[in-house]
Amino acid sequence: MRLVRGTEVLPVDPMAPDRFSLERAAEVIRGGGLVAFPTETVYGLGANGLDGEAVRRIFQAKGRPADNPLILHFDALEAVLPLVREVPDWARELARRFWPGPLTLVLKGARLVPAAVTAGLDTVAVRVPDNAIALGLIRAAGVPIAAPSANLSGKPSPTTAEHVVADLAGRIEMILDGGPTGIGVESTVLDASGDRPRILRPGGVSREALEEVLGPLDEPVTASDRPRSPGMKYAHYSPDAALYLVEHPNRDWVARTVRELARRFLAEGRRVGIIVGAEHVDAYLALAGPDRLTVMSLGRGDREVAANLFAALRAMDERGVEVLICEGYPETGLGYAVMNRLRKAADRIVKPDGADLEGKGGS
Ligand code: TXA
Ligand code: MG
Repeated sequence: MRLVRGTEVLPVDPMAPDRFSLERAAEVIRGGGLVAFPTETVYGLGANGLDGEAVRRIFQAKGRPADNPLILHFDALEAVLPLVREVPDWARELARRFWPGPLTLVLKGARLVPAAVTAGLDTVAVRVPDNAIALGLIRAAGVPIAAPSANLSGKPSPTTAEHVVADLAGRIEMILDGGPTGIGVESTVLDASGDRPRILRPGGVSREALEEVLGPLDEPVTASDRPRSPGMKYAHYSPDAALYLVEHPNRDWVARTVRELARRFLAEGRRVGIIVGAEHVDAYLALAGPDRLTVMSLGRGDREVAANLFAALRAMDERGVEVLICEGYPETGLGYAVMNRLRKAADRIVKPDGADLEGKGGS
């Protein structure tokens, strides 16, 4: 155990969490305090989900707008039932298939759910995380745990305990350090409160996997479609650097454009970062001005790219990068969630024909 600005940081084995650590963390939760813990997606910032006062402390610690509702975390579907009014058969089927795992279902909420959790909506978001520390904590606490991602509002979600320390040490009681999270993007949020399922936020369960169970899904909800997904109106995942996202199916065009942009900003004397897939790193290493240029690879394939994305965004900020240029990725599998996050983070989306689009689609 170490203390950082008054916050206890407790290393816990993610494969076999010890009872002592879980019990200490559960005591904090039961006492109305805040504990950050790993899930399979990103770190969460947990409080007793039945205690409105404790939940309000989450919003204070993160600087989160009070009208953006939270996800309640449970250890099993049976535990969810008392807190919702209705679970359609198809949603039950999804729960059986994907829980524990990175799928959040938005259901009609029961009165028992504090308004602080739902931001006053009559729906509630629920999920069963696939992480032994998270499940052990929920069981030890004996209550559902309300938890958003454990970052300061507007920062990329944390995928390591160090990310949580950087954002929240001194503001919360405890951090359970279970090492890096596996998936790296947040859960898929699916609206199951109406007649038809709709993706509110792409995430760790791919659209293709959902469609195997549900058949073809409607187009995802857009920012103008409020208040179905209140989180959408906020700018998310914004690194400090100005982010240029270069998108096109033609990889040569992307590589050429990224190089041109990088040359231009380096010539202006600015600190430049480039984030690319492993396949393309070599194409950028030959650029001049290496002391002002940082090139990072997210790895190979949608899963590696998702797992490394948020850590790379944070690392670029730590290096003082002023202009960050990111390649777009194919939108299959977890690539769909990756592109959703990058578009939200982008100040500019660069496409052919000078048809640049203003980014920050969610703000
Ligand atoms: O993977 C995850 O989902 C992580 C881990 C910690 O579980 N949690 C997470 O929570 O990403 P947060 O608060 O950062 O994002 C929750 C999203 C927000 O976009 C919020 O607007 C949406 O879920 N949401 C929550 N309750 C909702 C509701 N009743 N109706 C519609 N959207 C809701
Ligand atoms: Mg979040």
